[in-house]
Amino acid sequence: MKGIVLAGGLGTRLFPLTKITNKHLLPMYNKPMIYYPIQTLVDAGIREIMIVTGGNNAGDFLKLLANGSEFGLKHLDFTYQAHEGGIAEAVGLCEYFAEGKKVVIILGDNIIEKNIKKAVKRFKRQEEGAMIFLKKVKNPSEYGVAEVKDGKVINIVEKPKKPKSNLAVVGIYMYDNRVFDIVKTLKPSRRGELEITDVNNIYIEEGTMKYERLLGGWADAGESIDAYNDAINFVRKRYANKL
Ligand code: G1P
Repeated sequence: MKGIVLAGGLGTRLFPLTKITNKHLLPMYNKPMIYYPIQTLVDAGIREIMIVTGGNNAGDFLKLLANGSEFGLKHLDFTYQAHEGGIAEAVGLCEYFAEGKKVVIILGDNIIEKNIKKAVKRFKRQEEGAMIFLKKVKNPSEYGVAEVKDGKVINIVEKPKKPKSNLAVVGIYMYDNRVFDIVKTLKPSRRGELEITDVNNIYIEEGTMKYERLLGGWADAGESIDAYNDAINFVRKRYANKL
């Protein structure tokens, strides 16, 4: 299983903090934000990791992360997303890296508290399809929102005005290798991006989408300036002693 960290985008919701740098390089208490999702993958036992970045500061990622030795890695892969084409477009850039294997993808602004190793192991055994994590939130309209019926996700709506539940889709996605074919079939959404929610809905329609409730804390540090600051406080409280 291979890991992918998505660290592109303009980070407009954090403007002007992101005027001269990439969102994922901003401080998250004691480390640059991207350290946390990389550590999440490493803690889950993943050793082959690709960083997808974009925009003006792509070179800074190489300078910062080098070969990943701070994470105990021998090597890191990097690729560049030339346009603001969305999360699913960024995933598509990793087809050659995946080499036919399953992938676990984490958004570079998602900070999670608990180890997801067991869920990754379960997905390794899952014959086909996808797996996502859901988490109850107070402001579902800011996320992909899942509707669950009889223990199955039946639909996900991206940032709905009238959410049908308070279950947000966490920015960690596990897919079989068919995800790269699925991405090729997508059409840009109203905001001109290939949406990861469309990928997930294809797996849901196919009946191969599994989900788990994410245990422990979760912060989407890029959601708003308040969410960014909440994430810093969350990291300070939960991790300060351990890191
Ligand atoms: C993305 C996804 C959304 C998901 C969220 C989690 O939104 O599109 O479905 O719930 O990440 O962090 P974004 O934060 O990129 O707007």
